[in-house]
Amino acid sequence: MSMRILVLISGRGSNLAALVGAARAQAWPAQVVGVISNRPQAAGLAWAREQGLSTQVVDHQAYASREAFDEALLQACQAHRPDLLVLAGFMRVLGTAFVQHYEGRVINVHPSLLPAFTGLNTHRRALEAGVKVAGATVHYVTPTLDHGPVIAQAVVPVLAHDTEQGLAERVLQAEHALLPLAVGWQVRGELLTHGGRVQHRHAAAQTLFLPEGAPR
Ligand code: GRF
Repeated sequence: MSMRILVLISGRGSNLAALVGAARAQAWPAQVVGVISNRPQAAGLAWAREQGLSTQVVDHQAYASREAFDEALLQACQAHRPDLLVLAGFMRVLGTAFVQHYEGRVINVHPSLLPAFTGLNTHRRALEAGVKVAGATVHYVTPTLDHGPVIAQAVVPVLAHDTEQGLAERVLQAEHALLPLAVGWQVRGELLTHGGRVQHRHAAAQTLFLPEGAPR
């Protein structure tokens, strides 16, 4: 029985594309059954439609409160009967009620090495902090923003003359390798969580080291 993956986006959807590509190429026992965006103009929606995927907008600006938006989003998600939600560049903070409804079945990709640089503008903050490594984290979503159990992390170098744009691009390439790796493990039931720590059932490496960034 094929696992039903629902993907939430807010923007260009490059992580969505990486996920769909991996699901097809690796013949996952799963399929992306729909894409929901909180932004009507998200470019990822057009890409999804071209792929023949079901798409929907739940525009957060159309709701008077965060709770009302979360409730509408929950209804929209439930219609797809998802087994797994993937937040792929989804830029809304989901409330406790939503997260608890899908506890343990929501995966997010964040463009930093958590717990460092939770929240926004991670690349600018990393450069300002003078750190020498950066990267991305895929984690389970809990009610605390960007703090759920870490599934996998990808490390890239911060280079001497990096701009925010340059670092963002290098991290984004890493995300495109990391998110499909982690979701592939999830859909094959290869992840175990004990005491807030995630392990791969067969001890696969939960890290990617991309010295010059991910392969193009
Ligand atoms: C990614 O860097 C993601 O980590 C962050 O926003 C970006 C979304 O990119 N939340 P895309 O929409 O998947 O191309």
